[in-house]
Amino acid sequence: MDRTAHLTDRPARRAVAYGPAAGAESSRLRAERVLEGNWTGTSTVPSRGLYPHQWSWDSGFVAIGLRHLSPLRAQTELETLLAAQWGDGRIPHIVFNPSVPLDAYFPSPDFWRSSTAGRAAGAPRTLQTSGIVQPPVHALAAWLVHRADPGLSRARGFLAGVYPRLAAWHRYLLHRRDLGGAGLASVIHPWEQGMDNSPCWDAPLARVTPAPARSFRRADLDHGAPEDRPTDLDYGRYVRLAADYRDGGYAAGGGDFAVEDPAFNALLIASEHALARIAGELGAPGTARRARAERLTDVLVERLWDPAAGMFLCRDLRAGAPIPERAVSGLVPLLLPALPRDVAAALVRTLDGPHFGARLVPSYDLLGAAFDPHRYWRGPAWFNTSWLLERGLRAHGATARADALRDATIDTADASGFAEYVDPHTGEACGATGFSWTAALTLDLLEAKGADVAKGGDRG
Ligand code: SER
Repeated sequence: MDRTAHLTDRPARRAVAYGPAAGAESSRLRAERVLEGNWTGTSTVPSRGLYPHQWSWDSGFVAIGLRHLSPLRAQTELETLLAAQWGDGRIPHIVFNPSVPLDAYFPSPDFWRSSTAGRAAGAPRTLQTSGIVQPPVHALAAWLVHRADPGLSRARGFLAGVYPRLAAWHRYLLHRRDLGGAGLASVIHPWEQGMDNSPCWDAPLARVTPAPARSFRRADLDHGAPEDRPTDLDYGRYVRLAADYRDGGYAAGGGDFAVEDPAFNALLIASEHALARIAGELGAPGTARRARAERLTDVLVERLWDPAAGMFLCRDLRAGAPIPERAVSGLVPLLLPALPRDVAAALVRTLDGPHFGARLVPSYDLLGAAFDPHRYWRGPAWFNTSWLLERGLRAHGATARADALRDATIDTADASGFAEYVDPHTGEACGATGFSWTAALTLDLLEAKGADVAKGGDRG
């Protein structure tokens, strides 16, 4: 196949000046245009070229922004994803669009074979999906979407429809995925944690024999610059892990990769709090869920907090030890309002210290040996993590710091053409442009900023 025919969405390498992009059109309109362009009628693709199907955590973040543009579309986004839920409660990380050609994305439905290999786990019979999961941002998204238009939500029975599915999803994670036995959920593939190529995975992945390079054809390099994307060696390991999991009927347990991750679990806890609110709205008591979320926060601190690093670390269950790498995942628990005060204060200091103190928060330690400002999750700044940290800073009273991160995030997102990720120092666009969650979360931050300005509370 002629690769050059597919290069249309590859961004031109360019340095991006910080500050609002030029032109009469507002940031809001530009962000809305990205979301319009990536809407398929029932959900939103993360980007037209690189990611042409529906992705699980992308849809959560997209719904959070879409609620300001169309609460109905935001509700539909989540409902479409949840319609592909498996009988065991898992929400698959990709729901495939049958009208997209098989070679547009790898691994494609004929790799995952969900409806046959996943039959015992209750995979849908007609929809094709992947068999792994992604971080559980969905209940948080559902609650925020409801709040954007409670009248529409009640009229459509939105929360009543999604609540049982979200509860089953959390049950799956808290029971089937408690591989460490301490109460936290584990991921069994780097793609499940979502920060695929993080240096945190280098040691656990080194145990995995890569699938031979000739046994598959990567489609991502048709759309992304090779220096922005994972190496072929890492890809071979991703493929091997996924194939082994599939061949075991998608029953989690004995694979080479099993990790407890702070961001994945922080999102689960934040979503448990959201589920408690959803239960309350539906007239059911949320007390037990709230108590569980608080208990899980304690377990997260006991199990993954590293006082010397001033941040959370991942835990490699196969090695039985923490992974000594600093990645943005270890800052994301700042999102949790019930975090002990000293832990939250240490996280804020780490965020501004030498390991993470760039204009935008890097995905990996600026001083780490593996730091690379352009390669997928090995250093560039991502907009979903900025959004989560902005929320965390605000929840813990670091308002001026939250305002500064909000402004930097909005300006860089817009100036980079709503890039998938950017160089944390220069703002240079990496990966795809016109990326849905970048546009959606920019809309959300713009909305919050507008509300603050109206209240006279913005510090500019
Ligand atoms: N994020 C992975 C990819 O790059 C898997 O979802 O395709």
